[in-house]
Amino acid sequence: MTEPTVAYRGRVKYDEKQSGKYQHRKPHKHKAEMRLIDRAFKRIPTNHRVLDVPCGGGRVMMHLAKKGYFASGADLSESMLAIARERVFEANLSCYVERQDLEKLTYNNGHFDTIVCFRLFHHFPNVEIRQRVVSELCRVAGQFVVLSYFSPYSVQSVRRKLSGKDTDRFATSLAEVEGYFRHAGFRLVEDFAQMRVFHTLHLAVFARRENTK
Ligand SMILES: C[S@@+](CC[C@H](N)C(=O)[O-])C[C@H]1O[C@@H](n2cnc3c(N)ncnc32)[C@H](O)[C@@H]1O
Repeated sequence: MTEPTVAYRGRVKYDEKQSGKYQHRKPHKHKAEMRLIDRAFKRIPTNHRVLDVPCGGGRVMMHLAKKGYFASGADLSESMLAIARERVFEANLSCYVERQDLEKLTYNNGHFDTIVCFRLFHHFPNVEIRQRVVSELCRVAGQFVVLSYFSPYSVQSVRRKLSGKDTDRFATSLAEVEGYFRHAGFRLVEDFAQMRVFHTLHLAVFARRENTK
């Protein structure tokens, strides 16, 4: 696998310990996030082949599989993948999971109908990597990309900034995110906020513009 040109903490953080820790998200947080996923996926037909990247321990992929999507997952961290595989097995689901670097996916153009990229984009520290990742997701997605990002226009975001502690998370405006997708031939369908004004997490659905496949 080729080495990235940009290092960011989220890329190297998920060793065995951190991967295990990430699975213990508070149940109410997990539920709120899956509600956000459900709102966005109202736009996505259930016969779609969906790639969840990064899948982490597999929660989004499995949530979608239970709703009838043909969902598979990919992640860079072997520890996360081990957790995802174990959970898929325990839940008796048939989601395929493999190691991939979303900066350079090995799939053909349009291999999946829809790609969901949840809770990673805010780790990207600069414009170059954000554009590279969006372009790569848009290359492999035949129709839709569902991407989460942190909005700067929220109470949570302002608090984080003022605290000065949160140095490895980066908020991006919807206009900025839209710009990356426009460049890659996609248009915004709808943007969803977990809790507008208060919460920083947003999930936006983008669709391929016609004639760009
Ligand atoms: C905060 S976790 C989110 C996981 C999952 N989407 C969820 O919400 O449970 C971030 C994940 O991104 C993965 N990751 C970081 N850089 C990656 C890359 N370049 N390619 C694929 N996965 C990556 C990490 O290994 C980790 O599993």
